[in-house]
This record gives sequence, structure tokens and C-alpha cells, in this order.
Amino acid sequence: MSRSFFMHDGYLKIEQSHHLSGTIELAGAKNAVLVTIASLILTAGKSILHNVPASADVFEMIELLRHLGAVIFFDTENKQLSVDTALMQSRTIDGPTMRKTRTSILVMGPLLARFGKAYMGGLPGGDAIGKRPIDYHLKNFAKMGVAIHHQDDLLCAEVDTLKSARIVLEYPSVGATENIIMAATRAQGATKVINAALEPEVVNLIAALRKMGAKIIIEAPATITVEGVPSLNPIDHAIMCDRLEAGSLLIAAAATGGEIFIPDADASVLDVFLLKLEEMGHIIIIGENGKGIHLKAIPTARAVSFKTGPYPGFPTDLQAPMMALQCIAQGTSVIEETVFENRFHHAHELIKMGASIKIEHNKAIVTGVDYLYGAQVVAADIRASTALVVAGLVAHGVTTVSGLSHWKRGYENLEKKLQRLGANVTVHEAHDKMVIVSDGKQVEKHNF
Ligand code: UD1
Repeated sequence: MSRSFFMHDGYLKIEQSHHLSGTIELAGAKNAVLVTIASLILTAGKSILHNVPASADVFEMIELLRHLGAVIFFDTENKQLSVDTALMQSRTIDGPTMRKTRTSILVMGPLLARFGKAYMGGLPGGDAIGKRPIDYHLKNFAKMGVAIHHQDDLLCAEVDTLKSARIVLEYPSVGATENIIMAATRAQGATKVINAALEPEVVNLIAALRKMGAKIIIEAPATITVEGVPSLNPIDHAIMCDRLEAGSLLIAAAATGGEIFIPDADASVLDVFLLKLEEMGHIIIIGENGKGIHLKAIPTARAVSFKTGPYPGFPTDLQAPMMALQCIAQGTSVIEETVFENRFHHAHELIKMGASIKIEHNKAIVTGVDYLYGAQVVAADIRASTALVVAGLVAHGVTTVSGLSHWKRGYENLEKKLQRLGANVTVHEAHDKMVIVSDGKQVEKHNF
């Protein structure tokens, strides 16, 4: 049986590139900026965010807030976002808008805190990396007094006054922690979140909330206490630099035998990742006060094993590109993914490029090979696109990575940064394509 459908996505083309070298600056962190934009709903007035990356997910979040009535101006040249939330009218997000990103769920806490109502016409979308449920968000909002009704994909949440609660997360979910603490800023009394996520992006959000006037303290072990206040003020806030972009650039330099310096990278938020690069044999020099990372690659890097985990563990978002690096290292690496249950799509694509990878449940066993070769591969999520670009840089021949939209969702022109370091990587925008699939195999593709 055959079927056909239109694809509206472009691709990246990569040719083998040696010794990526130079000094490079970082963009603002995607995972910090999206939630910070959502948090501005808590205030009524004009806030300014600095160091905002112009990536596709940021534009989606801007559209979502506009949809709710915020007035937004994005000066992309100066990376400055002005968001006026004074006249927000709507508390409803339609299904298509909800489904565009996973982070759409992060407006729920702020909407409940400011208006006591959030109506959502669909469940959040996002990367194809497992089921990604929102049960921790919903059941803990219910503990704070929110009445939640859902039928199929429709979600209706209402509360007169948010009440404080003692919330225990069975897993330190980043999104659930952020959503609950945003709601708690305007609840009555003190809310405690136990086993909270303490990713640097969560801490950056807390800094923004404190500037608004929120009363938040972080205590060991992994507990965030939020004392509700009656109102919050607009802010002027700088988004932290993207540690995941820093990690990806370091991996690209390590894979190609290069030498790079990232002056604005903060080493203290990448500790376990940097430890693993050092164990591979690469030379890492950290600047004074932990600011600035210099990497000099060695040609005979050893494979290392690692296991992803909540911060300060190895970031799951660097698992895919780090796997690409292990594919060409000497020896065998065992990679254990503990955060998401289905985050090995990229492994199947790396195998098409000659990598030796065996998947056993949530473990990937990677045996280094002498070389990879160029192939046509597909990126199913943001970090998979990074992994496949890294693999393309070391592969013999030409690699095309389709799924450009994922790359653009996560990064602002990362290909241009790689080009400046000497990489042969180009972006090819979408022309509508008709894909014909026969017996589950893609057999024909037409560009129009
Ligand atoms: C955020 C990051 C993402 C990163 C992830 C883990 C953003 C925009 N995205 O995603 O890049 O990979 O943290 O560091 O910041 N879970 C549930 N129920 C829930 C919520 C989560 O079971 O209600 C599970 C998820 O399926 C997953 C685990 O908890 O297995 C961690 O997810 P979570 O930390 O919530 O990830 P996100 O906030 O979606």
C-alpha cells in the first residue's frame, strides 16, 4: 500500500570539516527564555528581556502571548524583547496554538495566578521524545485548589483563590517545577515544592520572579519555598547564556579535532559534561571565576560512558550530540538515558552513517568506528538535529539532515556560528515536497 503527503520542511547539508577553530559567542538560553516570557503574564505592564534568541520556539511563544492580548515588540538585532501585558484580555488558547510547542503548558500557572482561569483547546506539542505527560502539572494545580475539567484534548481550569500547598514531585520535572512556582507567587500563604528541579534555567526564572517582587527561597534538599504576594511588577531582565548551545559547540570542536574558546560560557552549569570531555582526553581550560571555556581537542579521544539525569547530572539535551562524539572515539561507551523514555531516534540515523550502536532498553552501547560516511538522515527533535550535524562534520562525503524545523526551533543561526569556526554546513529552506511512502518505506520525493 502506498500513500503520499506533503512535507513543509527544509534540510541541512553538511560536508566533512576539519579543525573547527575560533572564538564564538553564545545566544540566550531557549529553555530559560520561553518560561520567562510566559512568566510575564503574572505582571500587568511593560517588561524588557535582554539576550533573547530569535529561534522559532521563541516566535511561537511570542505569538501565544499576543494571542492572549499582550503587546510585543522584538528587536532581533539587539536581542531585546518588550512585552506589555497590561491589557491582556483572553484566557483561552486554541488547540493549534497549544500544539505548536511543549512550553505552551507553561502559561497555565501564570494565567491561573493572575486571572484564576485558563482554557486550553489542546494538549501541548513539542519534540517526539517520549510521551511527555502533564500529570505533575495538573495534579499539583488541583492541590492548590484549581478545579480542572478535561474532555479529550480540551482543558478547562478555574480557581477563585489559589491556596498554598506542600507539593512533592515524584520526579524533579523542569516544566512542572516552573509552572507550580509561577502559580504559587500569587497564592495565599507559603507553597513548598519538594524534589524540585534546580536546572540553571529554573534558577534564572526564579531570579526574574524575584525581580517582579516574588518571595522565593531555595533550600537543601531541592526544596523551593514560595510565599505568595498580592501583585507582581514588570521587570528588566537578562536571559542566561545557552549552556546547551555551548555544549554543542564544544562537541563539534572536539569531533573535528579543533580548538575553540567560548568567552561567555559558564563552566559551573556544565560540570559533569565537561568532566566527561576531559575523561575523553580533550583539554579544557576554564577562565577565572568559572567564566569562559577553552577546548583543545586531541585526535585519539577515548570513549566514555555516561548517564543522563536531572541537574547537576549529565544534561539529557546533550545526550544526542555526545553520542555522535562517542561514535568516532576509541573504545566502547555505554550511554544511559534516564530522563526521557524514548530519546534514541538519532541512534538509528547515526547507524545509517556507519556508527556501531546497539540499543538495549534505555541504554545505547556505542563502539567507536574509524570513520562515518555521509547519508540522508532525519532529525526527529532539536537535539537529534545537533547530533546529526556533528556526525556530518566528521563523516566522509555529504550528509543531508532533514527536519530543519527542529534545528530552527532550538537555535538562532547555529549553522552560521559553525560556519565561522570553519564548518561546511548550509541551511536549505523548505520548498513543499511530496513524499510517497510504499510499504512503510519512503520511495520518492518531489520538490515543487
Ligand atoms: C525541559 C526542557 C527540555 C529538557 C527537559 C529535561 C524546556 C523548554 N525544555 O522539558 O529541553 O530536555 O526539561 O531537562 O525547558 N514528566 C511526567 N509528567 C509531567 C511532567 C514530566 O511524567 O507532568 C516526565 C517527562 O515525561 C520526562 C521527565 O518527567 O520523562 C522530565 O520532564 P521535564 O523535566 O518536565 O521536561 P520538560 O520541562 O518538558
